[in-house]
Amino acid sequence: HTSNDLNGQTALVTAGPTHEAIDPVRYIGNHSSGKMGVAIAENMAKRGAKVTLVMGPSQETARHPNITTIHVISAREMFEAAQKAHRTTKISVFAAAVADYAPADQSKEKIKKSSDDLSISLKKNIDIAATLGKNKSAEQYHVGFALETNQEEENALEKLKKKNFDFIVLNSMKDKGAGFKHDTNKITIYHKTGKKEASPLLAKVDVAALIVDNIVKDL
Ligand code: PMT
Repeated sequence: HTSNDLNGQTALVTAGPTHEAIDPVRYIGNHSSGKMGVAIAENMAKRGAKVTLVMGPSQETARHPNITTIHVISAREMFEAAQKAHRTTKISVFAAAVADYAPADQSKEKIKKSSDDLSISLKKNIDIAATLGKNKSAEQYHVGFALETNQEEENALEKLKKKNFDFIVLNSMKDKGAGFKHDTNKITIYHKTGKKEASPLLAKVDVAALIVDNIVKDL
């Protein structure tokens, strides 16, 4: 993208998975690679925005002078970094796959193998997008993601409303080449206005451009 249609704008992107420690050597996590979030951050940076990228554990690196990357591990850390950046940010894109639950207690020592069954008690993590969405000002613009395996549209529309997004990007685990890890994705965008736009299978960089185009149109 060669235009500077985001010149002077500020943006926050969450990306990657979160890791919730069980003990010093183990965690609960998911398969997010961070690629989708990094592609969005890079697209907005190229178009002139100053971007804060809050990223969970990932092999990916965002390469653009307009991007400041903050590395975090847990959902709690991701929330704290995102909340701080959000105060001075116009556009927020929540592309991270945040763990919904974390171990209620973190063992200080490595848990030893003993009984045949082991239970770990979990507590719900803070919802970053929903919490920041509650305090969103009229000037702030929020984009969410939904990764679904079933009842995709219904679940996406519920999240759109509940988390106060301006639009939500649905990727389905049912579509080959979509979602986690791949260099490609296939999405459907649902705007709060009811407008809907579906993409074919595209490279994540092109999906990112399409998402950012949708933001720019609304600013
Ligand atoms: O990283 P990649 O390998 O490139 O894969 C990209 C992706 C599939 C991870 C990405 O495109 C994606 O769909 N991210 C959101 C996945 C997800 O876990 O969605 P969700 O349905 O659990 O959450 C809905 C929305 O709320 C998301 O915007 C999520 O970032 C946000 N959320 C969820 C829980 C939580 N505690 N805090 C949040 O902010």
